[in-house]
Amino acid sequence: MAECSPAVAMVKEECADADVQGQLCQDIERVLISAEEIQDRIRELGRQIDERYSGKDLLLIAVLKGSIVFIADLMRAISIPHEVDFLATSSYGASSTSSGVVRIMKDLNEPIEGRHALLVEDIIDSGHTLAYLTRLFSARNPASLEIVTLLDKPSRREVDIELFWTGFSVPNEFVIGYGLDFNQKYRNLPYIGVLKPEVYEPGSE
Ligand code: PRP
Repeated sequence: MAECSPAVAMVKEECADADVQGQLCQDIERVLISAEEIQDRIRELGRQIDERYSGKDLLLIAVLKGSIVFIADLMRAISIPHEVDFLATSSYGASSTSSGVVRIMKDLNEPIEGRHALLVEDIIDSGHTLAYLTRLFSARNPASLEIVTLLDKPSRREVDIELFWTGFSVPNEFVIGYGLDFNQKYRNLPYIGVLKPEVYEPGSE
């Protein structure tokens, strides 16, 4: 295995039980949000969602694929009865920046009319995805429509998004892990890490 710099010592600590340190040493610059910090914040969000939606017909809508890890933990941090549904969008392709074009690859299985819909996202970046989804779902007449995102990158916003709860605000860096990918990889990391620029911009070293 390659030698790690001190900056990635926390990466090795985070993944002490996983046999992936060699790959991490090569590709991860540092841990931005630890697995423990994520779980603590999700417990708080779960409690807030319990209070907000108590006695209501709550439907969590996960926007695939990035939110799969977040919704899996979030739904178990929510005590009140609720259902889940899944929606697949595509905006980035293999690029590291948003094209601003949102396509629905898989729509919801159930109508949301009269129900309290809570969109679950891994990250709000430019805001195009959620601006589009908010318009799309509002037209279906839900009783309420709100958003919970694990990460928010406000410095990248191109369109305003309203009514959202945030786990963490993050700087404008290439974050991966805990569902977030680069070229479909790294989603399985239990923390949010910063990808080394040379990984997504070959030749930038
Ligand atoms: C990511 C993320 C959001 C969207 C946010 O999805 O999961 O859906 O981009 O970016 P925006 O605010 O600039 O619209 P992506 O298209 O990368 O797909 P994935 O969830 O399958 O990784």
